[in-house]
Amino acid sequence: AGAAAGIGLGAAQRAGLLGQDTGSADAGSAGENTAETPVGARAEPYYGLRQAGIDTLPQSFATFIAIDLSEDTQRETVRRMMRVLTADAAKLTVGEAPVHDQEPELALNPSRLSVTFGFGARVFEIVAPDRAPSWAGPLPAFGIDQLEDRWNDGDLLIQLACEDTVTLAHAQRLLLKDVRGFGSVRWVQNGFRSVPGAEAADPPSMRNLFGQVDGTVDTQPGTDEHERIVWGRGDGAFEPWITDGTSLVLRRIHMNLDTWDEADRPAREDAVGRKLDTGAPLTGTKERDEPDFEAVGTLGFKVIPEYSHMRRARHPDDRVRIHRRPYNYDLPVSDASGLAKAGSSSGGVSDSGLLFASYQADVNEQFVPIQRRLDDLDMLNVWTVPVGSAVFAIPPGCAEGGFIGDVLF
Ligand code: HEM
Repeated sequence: AGAAAGIGLGAAQRAGLLGQDTGSADAGSAGENTAETPVGARAEPYYGLRQAGIDTLPQSFATFIAIDLSEDTQRETVRRMMRVLTADAAKLTVGEAPVHDQEPELALNPSRLSVTFGFGARVFEIVAPDRAPSWAGPLPAFGIDQLEDRWNDGDLLIQLACEDTVTLAHAQRLLLKDVRGFGSVRWVQNGFRSVPGAEAADPPSMRNLFGQVDGTVDTQPGTDEHERIVWGRGDGAFEPWITDGTSLVLRRIHMNLDTWDEADRPAREDAVGRKLDTGAPLTGTKERDEPDFEAVGTLGFKVIPEYSHMRRARHPDDRVRIHRRPYNYDLPVSDASGLAKAGSSSGGVSDSGLLFASYQADVNEQFVPIQRRLDDLDMLNVWTVPVGSAVFAIPPGCAEGGFIGDVLF
């Protein structure tokens, strides 16, 4: 019940925060999700100042899709495409079938579906070159990267997230039908976390496939810190590329579960600086305890090791933060990409990892410096390899009758 109540709050809180009318009569149910609302009937507001799927309490399943636009794509083509996509996404998120839906019954349970669109560098080249964020395009190269082109880049992002995989698959198919005349699918990446109620904590702390509690120290939607980090509001530390827009960096990070199997529990806990059972820092007992980075053990070494992921991921300038919304992925080994590279000695059983989704107002000022620190030193690098990387500008939301990206036209 805790998790369910949290879901209702998430939607209502966001709407309240933005002072936003949660929209049309269609979207009337959105924001009213309560513990009693069946999962299938829960809806997230679609129209509004900001796109859903970022401040939204993470749904259990997510699919990230990158589209390459056709060579001959014109400004007007993008406008037409975004109009169609927006209209269909708006309907699907409130449980209504778009007119061309050939399986309309599959559209009836929105299950908190959110659809978030993002633009790669090429969309700006076509539509509004002078509006392109300084960070549009690929990230700088990092030493740890073993990127494979099949997971990189893309012109248009469609990020779907939902509590139900059937609803999600249907929404994916419809939106892909919408874009098929405009370009081709570059990659599709599916991810999952525990479903509501599976974890006791409220809100549920996600566990990744290393077994670690993942997401403890992160910005909380609705707080001043989150507004500053994700949306560039507040003290002006970070400028968003556009008001109520933000950015997504999606890193596909292979996690070598086979070599991880060979690490004992103390080594695993030292690698992050947190305990595996509770997620507490090595200097504490509860997940949310404040870590003591200065504490020293009997041998004179820091209790939270210098090389630990937690210490390295925390930028010394405490304004430099990101908002994480990661999903696990797990594929059969026949699809494996990085097993041999990551030094598996025992023969791979799975191709697993994280779809590391990071949202921030400014990619260069926030994501990049943190990733640089982890590139320089992070014990987790022994078991993890970034195999894909993509950067998208997330445009603001839109009003009914408008379309996502209309601010660029
Ligand atoms: C913290 C796992 C990649 C940034 C953590 C924690 C875990 C974790 C278990 C501690 C609990 C928490 O606060 O969430 C992983 C795994 C990764 C990965 C398994 C790769 C497969 C990354 C990357 C970045 C990053 C690529 C950024 C470029 C952070 C940050 C924190 C964190 C900012 C919070 C640090 C703090 O305490 O201030 N990660 N992470 N992580 N991670 Fe990662």
